[in-house]
Amino acid sequence: MHIRSASCSGFRNLTACSLEFSPRVNLVLGRNGEGKTNLLEALNYFSLGRSHRGCRNEDLVAFDRDDLHVRLEVARKRGEDFTCEFGLSRRGERRLRIDGELVLRRTDLVGRLATVFFNPETTRLVRGGPRYRRQYLDQGRSEIDKVFLGELTALQRALRQKATLLRDLRRGAAHHETTRRELVAWNRELARSAAVVCLGRRQETELLNSFVRHNHNTLINKDLDFRMIYLPRFESVKNLTAAAGEDPNSQKQLTEEITGELDYIMEQEIRRGRPLIGPQFDDLEVRCEGVDLRQFGSQGETRSAAIAMTLARSDVLFATQGIRPVIFFDDIFSELDRERARRLQEMAASLHQVFIATARPEDVEGWQPADLRRWRVRAGDVTLDDG
Ligand SMILES: Nc1ncnc2c1ncn2[C@@H]1O[C@H](COP(=O)(O)OP(=O)(O)O)[C@@H](O)[C@H]1O
Ligand SMILES: [Mg+2]
Repeated sequence: MHIRSASCSGFRNLTACSLEFSPRVNLVLGRNGEGKTNLLEALNYFSLGRSHRGCRNEDLVAFDRDDLHVRLEVARKRGEDFTCEFGLSRRGERRLRIDGELVLRRTDLVGRLATVFFNPETTRLVRGGPRYRRQYLDQGRSEIDKVFLGELTALQRALRQKATLLRDLRRGAAHHETTRRELVAWNRELARSAAVVCLGRRQETELLNSFVRHNHNTLINKDLDFRMIYLPRFESVKNLTAAAGEDPNSQKQLTEEITGELDYIMEQEIRRGRPLIGPQFDDLEVRCEGVDLRQFGSQGETRSAAIAMTLARSDVLFATQGIRPVIFFDDIFSELDRERARRLQEMAASLHQVFIATARPEDVEGWQPADLRRWRVRAGDVTLDDG
């Protein structure tokens, strides 16, 4: 998959532009603060229907404008091309379109423009809290499994409801019996979607594991035992095998077992006023040669691990959907030694369209991939750079 062209207006500091990209390597050069990340952010927005920087939609609108508009022409596999557009206004309105048709729910976007984004924050995947690793599994699974995505949404809703009920019970703000009955009902709901989500996370871990070691070892040019281990909170999920996800009976059985665990702990949860078990406490161990990198990884080790894990998401997409996502590298090569940087560039660019933003041209010096296009960003002005 690749982005053929983009036109943007009103997006942060970017000057109105119409750009035709290389299907392979696009270098985005410019000093700090000129707008390189803004360009990548505009190109990546559609993949999740929000900024990868986690800011509000309104913040994307240029300071002196009331709205913004971005349109991409995307080439998918075998001629399934499409255009996607989004418009945002300062008042918070948002419009997303695919081939001119309005897209109403953000979940309908998942998997359309498939991208993988690397920036210095990528290392949070290993170093940061468990939620980054859960997000990693959930996002990867959602891209290839719509049922999972639906159940994940249902699960999040059930978890919010449950947390509110427990708070209300503790504060005595609710009628005790009614609220208890509601709590039991939400626990049922939770168990059903948690079974699907936990099975999906387990399967996703296995899928990712079939690629992650190879990525890791290619990147660092060594042969190490590198893998990820799914750490669910529910006892009944801990005891499952990877194959369980394929079997509808095991899903039913798991739902019952989870219900049992939730019922067992309910009184304690009511006393404490908050949930004590559930998939919101799951984690993923990142293990290299028996060492848990979440805790004991050096900066270099966590960086390589996080890159290998993120790349594995693109391998899974290809293995399951036949799609090679667009890869963005925002300012990450200055943190890698030259050898690793070059290996990563080669690994990514041999199969994907890539966008590499950097303030240091020496990061890519001497690299001569086919179909290289160089872009220069100056004060938000994006131009082809022939120099
Ligand atoms: N909504 C906005 N409107 C106009 N300019 C913005 C907006 N948001 C950020 N900027 C500007 O964008 C610039 C930073 O761009 P960025 O893409 O992060 O730079 P870099 O090239 O270092 O990646 C800053 O000058 C900032 O003031
Ligand atoms: Mg930047």
